[in-house]
Order: sequence, then structure tokens, then C-alpha cells
Amino acid sequence: MINRRQLVSALAATAAAGFPRHSPAAPAASETPLPIPELLDARAQGNAVRLVAAKNPHTFLPGHPAQAYGYSGSVLGPAIRVRRGEEVEMAVENKLDRGTTVHWHGLIIPSHLDGAPHDTIAPGQTWRPVLKIDQPEATAWFHPHTHRETARQVYFGFGGLMLIDDGSGERFGLPRSYGIDDIPLIIQDRNFDSNGRLTYDAGPMTVMHGFRGHTIMVNGAVAPVAKVPAGLVRLRVLNASNARNYNLSFVDQRNFHIIASDGGYLAAPVKLAELVIAPAERFELLVDFSDKTSAVLQTTPDPFTPAGGGADFERLMTFKPDETKSAVTTIPKSLAAIEAPDTSKAARRRNFVLNDHMMGMMMGGPRGPAMAINSRSFDMGRVDVRLKQGETEIWQVESEMLAHPFHIHGVQFRVLSIDGRKPAPHLQGWKDTVLVPRAAEMLVRFTQQATPDHPFMYHCHILEHEDAGMMGQYVCA
Ligand code: C2O
Ligand code: CU
Ligand code: CU
Repeated sequence: MINRRQLVSALAATAAAGFPRHSPAAPAASETPLPIPELLDARAQGNAVRLVAAKNPHTFLPGHPAQAYGYSGSVLGPAIRVRRGEEVEMAVENKLDRGTTVHWHGLIIPSHLDGAPHDTIAPGQTWRPVLKIDQPEATAWFHPHTHRETARQVYFGFGGLMLIDDGSGERFGLPRSYGIDDIPLIIQDRNFDSNGRLTYDAGPMTVMHGFRGHTIMVNGAVAPVAKVPAGLVRLRVLNASNARNYNLSFVDQRNFHIIASDGGYLAAPVKLAELVIAPAERFELLVDFSDKTSAVLQTTPDPFTPAGGGADFERLMTFKPDETKSAVTTIPKSLAAIEAPDTSKAARRRNFVLNDHMMGMMMGGPRGPAMAINSRSFDMGRVDVRLKQGETEIWQVESEMLAHPFHIHGVQFRVLSIDGRKPAPHLQGWKDTVLVPRAAEMLVRFTQQATPDHPFMYHCHILEHEDAGMMGQYVCA
């Protein structure tokens, strides 16, 4: 096992200047440039996009070549830009020696295109869903959703972004030069052995708490540096970790503005100095670098993870403003037109309890303890909920012990309450995943058809919990 000190010296070997060292947990000085996932503009390719799911050589730690999973690349995947109102034909080829699936997380599309566990792509096969994009501008993503193997397949590298474009970012005057002032940040925690290879062990404790790694990567690099224009920069942050929450802030405590959540723009920018992001959530931030001062993004212990549960104080990356580049300097006053959620439209209320106590042990889960929802562990052959297409419902979700990030396929919803209170302003827009400390209520309109042979999933996005059974299925007709 490579420890932090070894990692620090491995990185220091390639380093010149570095972080100011006031955190005891500060990782190395590093000059690794922030890798930017390749932008794949679907329209420029005639709306036909090819993805190859394969294992490839990738160097996570300088000087230590290793292997990783990636979509059409050595790790992670491209950022696919798609436009509202267009149809995109995907061709996903599986070059692994095992089955996989590709789920379009956050897309509002019918269930047979959703890429959930029922859509396994066998080795050597190509899956060709045609995705009709019809939802507001947002940052969605895609990742494997393979029965009982999601955690492992995401851990070893699969994950990409889907940038849905409807022209509103341009109308709002937001930064939109991809990789320059519109930058994706995919945050993940990992463990490495002494040869710089990823290690993953899903023992019973890992299943209970979800995997927590000792090293945090951004876009597949440890402690990278991004050169940014000295103005406003848009960061599209995705927590693609298996289980860990991050509590993001800048070391100099500068404020930033949240402009979007999972399903698109907020009504107006929300000023914050600290942001908790749970697995699978996306937030888009505007950060002002016009002071031309380097800024370090860090994570600090979050209020939802029990002490000692792996929520450390760590530095993620550095931004270095570069004065030669022009930039956007005005924060828009308002963004999307978002109505207040209207609960009078709800046809009914449903309750879901996320069971994470050791009862699962007796039920004999896939690997150690089983997880469940309403005391039932996931069963691919069982439909848990039958819904009427077009209806709106209130879903109330309770966490038994830990805080769980709850996700529903096929929809974007509005959060009505978290632990009995109105959600914070940056959680009041469209979302598909919400962290449930004790209880949350959401207003959900189910517009997409889900047939019994391709039900939609709802689940905890701690991937070890999902794989161990904290997942259910709904049909909608
Ligand atoms: Cu991000 Cu069921 O998925
Ligand atoms: Cu999803
Ligand atoms: Cu969970």
C-alpha cells in the first residue's frame, strides 16, 4: 500500500513550485496539468457517437504505469456535447472480457434506452440506443450500471460527461469555452498499491460504509494544476466517487456562485463558500479568479459523514490565473425560470426506508451484508413500484443510519424538504440525486415510459450499497 508520504515524494519528484503548506494533510507539490476530458461534439459528428468500453494502460501516479477502464480513452471518458431537440445515435462497443452496461445518468429518456442492469452489453457486442434529447441545459454523466458490478467498474475508471446544450448558457452570458473557462472536474477517491496500481477490496466493512480511498483525483490526476483566465471560470463538478462526500471550499475561503445542479440552472446564482457534494451529484460553480491569485480547492470533513468515516481534510487541486486570456467578468442576476414546486399536483405519497443495518448479513447479500429498501434487497426479477405515466408523486425517503445519496432514474425532481426543513437555495433546482441525512421529500413527475422488461431503478448512489441491494425498480405506463 502506498502511503501518503510515499505519494508525496513520488509527486514531488516531478514538481517545481507547490502548495502553500498549512494543512497537515496537504498532498504534494505537483505541476501535473489538469487533464481535460476530450470534448466530443455530437452534432459535429452527425449525431452518431461511438464509445469503446475497454481496459487500457494509464499512469495515475507519475512513473507508475497501470491499467484502467475508459470509454474511448485510457481512463474515464469523453465529454459528449448534445443538443436539446436532436437525436443522438450512440454505439457502445464492449471490448472487456465481461458484461457491462452504460447508463445515462440524469437523462430523461424512456427506460429501454437507460442502460440499467437489464441492458447488459456482452463482450464483443455493440449497443446502439438512439437518445432523443429533450430537457434543459445541464451536465449529465454516464457510467456502468452492471448488476452487482457497478462499484468495481466505476472504480477502475469508467465515467464520462454529457453536456446538454439548449443555448441558455450563451443567453446568460456564462463562460463557455470548454477546457478554458468552462472546465469539468470529476472528483474521485482511490487507493493504490506500491506499484501505482488501483486496488479495490469490497470486504464487509467496505460494503457497510462504501469505499473510501486515501488519494483524491480530479479528472484522473492527483493534485493537478489548472491554468485559468483571470476572470470568471465555470466549473462543472461531478462527484464520481463510489461513496465519499466532499465538502468543497477554497483554502483562501473565497466565495463562489452555484449556477446549476444536476438537472440544470438554478433560478439565480447562489453565493457560497462551502459546498457539500454527494456521489453522483453535479453542481456548476462560477469562481472569480480576477484577483490573479492562485487558489487551492480543498475538501474538509462534511457534516454527514461520521467522524473517522473517511471525510478528511485534503487539497484537491490548484487554479493558476493566467492574465493573457480574456474572460467573462459578470455574474448573471437571474438564470432559469423555475416555478415553486406545487405539491397540490401530487397524486400520492410513497415512503422508502433505506436499510443499512446488519440485518442484511442474515439475508446473505452478494458480498457480505445486504442492503435493502423497505426491507427488500434488490431483485432484478421483481418490480417494486408501479406508476402511472404523467403523474406526479411525493417520495419520502428515510435513511436508517448513514446518510445516503438517493437517485431516481428517468426523472429530474424538486426537493421539498431535507430533515423536515426547506432545502438550502442551491438544492431548490432540478435534481436527480439528493443526499438524505435522515429524511428527504421530493416532488417527482414521471413522464417516461418504463416497461416490465426494462424497469427504471431508484437507489442509493453509494455504489457498494447499490450493488449490495439498496435499489428498487419501477415501471411506468
Ligand atoms: Cu448514476 Cu442508477 O445511476
Ligand atoms: Cu441514473
Ligand atoms: Cu447508501
